[in-house]
Amino acid sequence: MKALTPAQRLIVALDINPTQTVSYSAAIKSIYALAEKLAPSGVVVKVNSVLRYAGISMLKDLYDIGLYTFADLKLCDIPNTLINDGWFLTECQPDMITVMCSAGVEAMHALKQILGDQTEVLGVTVLTSLNENQCLIIHGSKPTDTFQKLAIMAKEAKIDGLILSPQELGFLPYNNHLSLICPGIRPAWSMVKGDDQRRVMTPREAIARGAERIVVGRPITQHPDPIEAVAMTIAEINQGLTDRA
Ligand code: C5P
Repeated sequence: MKALTPAQRLIVALDINPTQTVSYSAAIKSIYALAEKLAPSGVVVKVNSVLRYAGISMLKDLYDIGLYTFADLKLCDIPNTLINDGWFLTECQPDMITVMCSAGVEAMHALKQILGDQTEVLGVTVLTSLNENQCLIIHGSKPTDTFQKLAIMAKEAKIDGLILSPQELGFLPYNNHLSLICPGIRPAWSMVKGDDQRRVMTPREAIARGAERIVVGRPITQHPDPIEAVAMTIAEINQGLTDRA
């Protein structure tokens, strides 16, 4: 595991709903404004929907602001297409990128081969919004069994890490050599209206149980003071690291 600062263990999902701003360009501006505010803290920022709208050159702009960038594109396609995705992405060199493990070993491996050591390729296992029944319908097995199957595929593909629910942290089917990154994080102080996340945990507990990094979106972006929310989350990360020791 790399030596990460507590701030580098926090990945802030810059998810903005464009209908809650006056225009699409205002939504993009508000993302850059938040990114600029967050830059001094040393956290990583994650973008997905806006990246699909604004284009991958946005990653260069975020890098220029001084941020580690995470392109959560959740790529899922045939190997040849992921190779093309990989080449386009090498232009912008994101620090991290996601691929769906369900794309298969060959496709994940092909993407990693193109992106090389500059970009961590992370395999998404079971979405944290799925409950057990939904997972059974989609994957034909329970979340833990599905997670284990997909985690084995990620290892075979020789990618760098896994995106997993904190609830699956204890179920890794091999000695860990992959980076473990958990979304589905809800600090005790957070209130997310109409929350869609199902398999969740607090920052402290997820870090204590072995998450290397955590992804937090709305608890920070919807907080009246996102910088204070970042500081509170980093404090919880520190507590989780102490619990581990
Ligand atoms: O707002 P919230 O904290 O739920 O944001 C979680 C972020 O992590 C979102 O950007 C979502 O797309 C992403 N994510 C997830 N579950 C996964 C993979 C990614 O919630 N399995």
